[in-house]
Amino acid sequence: MNRFLDLEDLDDAAIAHLLALANDVEARPARQDLAGRVLGLVFMNPSVRTLASFQAGMAQLGGSSFVITPGQGSWGFETRTGVVMDGIAAEHVREGMPVLAGYADAIGVRCFAGGERLDHDLSEPVLSAIAAVTPGPLINLESAVNHPCQALADWKTLDDLDVPRTGRFVLSWAYHKKALPLAVPAAALTMAARRGMAVTVLRPDGFGLPPQIMETAAQAAGFSGGSVNETSDRAAALEGAHVLYAKSWQSPAAYGDADAESALREQHRDWCVGEDWFAPSASDAHFMHCLPVRRNVVVDDAVLDGPRSAVQRQANNRLHVQKAVLLEVLGKGTVT
Ligand code: CP
Repeated sequence: MNRFLDLEDLDDAAIAHLLALANDVEARPARQDLAGRVLGLVFMNPSVRTLASFQAGMAQLGGSSFVITPGQGSWGFETRTGVVMDGIAAEHVREGMPVLAGYADAIGVRCFAGGERLDHDLSEPVLSAIAAVTPGPLINLESAVNHPCQALADWKTLDDLDVPRTGRFVLSWAYHKKALPLAVPAAALTMAARRGMAVTVLRPDGFGLPPQIMETAAQAAGFSGGSVNETSDRAAALEGAHVLYAKSWQSPAAYGDADAESALREQHRDWCVGEDWFAPSASDAHFMHCLPVRRNVVVDDAVLDGPRSAVQRQANNRLHVQKAVLLEVLGKGTVT
């Protein structure tokens, strides 16, 4: 494995190996396996966890890293082919990415969805354009409709918490004041299905995930013995749930139409996860969220600060699983 772009590119043995390696580096965090190696991080969009955990992880493995934020202290990057570059972007990825790859042993890139055309975003245009011109190891730090590093950390979190492989996983839409991307819900959904879980997508009408994303998850469930369903009935979804994973996403039904999407979303301000969501049928369920999260908008303080919250463990696991990914793509992925 020298690229980590989608968890679904990996077979079961490869995922199991990464999780074992992550546990190994968690137990023995400081090592010199990547001494002298360099990681280049390209962030076209903001981050806290991904940026900090990759830099910390690379340092703990004996290597170093540099960060490029195109358009913010670095030249803006153009990703489209055949365009007349008379706008803000001064550099095309066709030149920029091979240059950066020449300075680094591995590259990570974050490139969110444009949010204007659903079919376009579902085709991962920016990640594909970058992958095509970047030689060597490449890691997806969150793209238009995927976040494999988050998904792998979430898988480890479920294992850490002894959530049964066939347990009940509810991915719930939550209200947010902004129209957010589909990357985390898509990745969490497919991860849980791939793990073999009985997955329910709980969402209001108009917020059903695109068929392409649901079909990918259904295929993953088909391989693992899991299942994927969707509903707008909260009580039914949460009956016997082991996990409630909350995330907001923009309405696929009104994708790219800001006014229509906002009007739809504003009808559901009450979709803020509270303790009452868990009683009585999911009283022991864990609460998961990828962070960042808006308190008392997406989830109440009582849930986020209470014993069911796994958000800090999820964030910590980003460090461990990404160190495993770095070791693997750089040929040092032996479990000791
Ligand atoms: N969950 C996650 O990717 O966090 P950041 O956006 O802060 O990197």
